[in-house]
Amino acid sequence: MYKNVIVKTPGESYMNGLTTSDLGSPDYEKLLEQHNAYLEALKKCGVSITLLPASEEFPDSTFVEDTAVLTPEFAVISNPGAASRNKEKKEIKSVLNRFYDKFHYIKSPGTLDGGDVLQVDDHFYIGISDRTNEEGARQLKGIVESEGYKGTIVPLQKFFHLKTGISYLGNNVIVTAGEFIDHSDFQQYKKITVAPEEEYSANCIRVNNYVIIPKGYKDTIHQINEAGYETIELEMSEFQKHDGGLSCLSLRF
Ligand code: GLY
Repeated sequence: MYKNVIVKTPGESYMNGLTTSDLGSPDYEKLLEQHNAYLEALKKCGVSITLLPASEEFPDSTFVEDTAVLTPEFAVISNPGAASRNKEKKEIKSVLNRFYDKFHYIKSPGTLDGGDVLQVDDHFYIGISDRTNEEGARQLKGIVESEGYKGTIVPLQKFFHLKTGISYLGNNVIVTAGEFIDHSDFQQYKKITVAPEEEYSANCIRVNNYVIIPKGYKDTIHQINEAGYETIELEMSEFQKHDGGLSCLSLRF
């Protein structure tokens, strides 16, 4: 069960943020509406919300997940791999001081984005991507192993972040898309397989009694419901335009 989430209002500078997509320019009003709906969904899940104000200095900083990796016992402050995002970690550290006594840090030349880290019970899967390098992944594996968890490093082929293509719903069930469907590292789990045309829905989040999932992905939603989970669907178009998914918008702990 999660008790807390940290989220951050997107600023107007979001328009100038990083993206690899060709889905067009975000509409700021719509973006705020979608972010508000995300907050409402989290409230329905019963978590306490720490909402940070927008930072115009950091256009991508609404994607707070990339700045830390959190467990019940300790926090790891990441070292975000995009230069324009790296200093986002400072604000998150000061906020996490309210919740944690024990910190670890990913240090340069290691880089790591939280979006490349999937926790499945006591096992952390750590992607190597354009944002997380081998050194950063190796550091995180060492940290989690020193704390009694398992760590597996997963070099990515195509996905932006590890969690762009895989989510964990609890009860040994994962949602997988693309390169992860037949990936040898995930064979031991029960799988919900996302159709190629619904790939964006592979990034969904289990928060207590609900799975929050992007709106409109009927086949994935049907499979998740059939597996026994209640879903909350959210419009995510303006975040998708900047490579963002549901997990990226919060730190959950
Ligand atoms: N636009 C999200 C990111 O590039 O990290």
